[in-house]
Amino acid sequence: MTRVRLGVLVSGTGTILEALLDEGLPVVVVVADRPCRGLEIAADRHVAGVLVDRQGFGGFGDAFERDAFTRGVVEVLDDHDVDLVVMAGFGTVLSQPAHDTYGGRILNTHPALLPAFPGWHAVEDALAAGATVTGCTVHLATVDMDAGPILAQEEVAVRPDDTAATLHERIKEVERRLYPATIRKVIAAGVGPEGRDR
Ligand code: GRF
Repeated sequence: MTRVRLGVLVSGTGTILEALLDEGLPVVVVVADRPCRGLEIAADRHVAGVLVDRQGFGGFGDAFERDAFTRGVVEVLDDHDVDLVVMAGFGTVLSQPAHDTYGGRILNTHPALLPAFPGWHAVEDALAAGATVTGCTVHLATVDMDAGPILAQEEVAVRPDDTAATLHERIKEVERRLYPATIRKVIAAGVGPEGRDR
């Protein structure tokens, strides 16, 4: 069997990326939408790292050119012959051009039990709602944020003295285990080069 090639998308501290690399998953490129530690991890681990900077596409306000940015990301993934796209703390919702090329082959991990608490502030929202249990969800990404088919979930108990930071860290401990395990299952189920639509 030809080796499956993963492209990992990051925006932040990249601890989940580190977990994927520690697990020996075949990451061939790391793509970031802003300068971030994730790119430094890629360099340290001798994995190709590419910055597709949102600032070059209108930044973070109304002027953001989402389709053009998405095409820029897809171009990098194509250049590296990626089979499976893995979002690991990626702060941009990719638009239709990504799904035209990689539909059904884009994974995400989210720090809540979807469909509860979608969006960028899932941990804060769970705390504010007084949830006693939250967790994380690995799912297929679609054009609608945090709404794609769920592949795996695991609960994390909320402690009375939790802050967003302490709760998020405990959720991430689970994500660092659940995400690589779920990616392995997806690969075993047959996502691979034969799935490429080009
Ligand atoms: C994770 O909790 C992920 O679910 C969320 O961002 C966090 C990424 O953490 N989307 P890190 O940057 O890998 O440490």
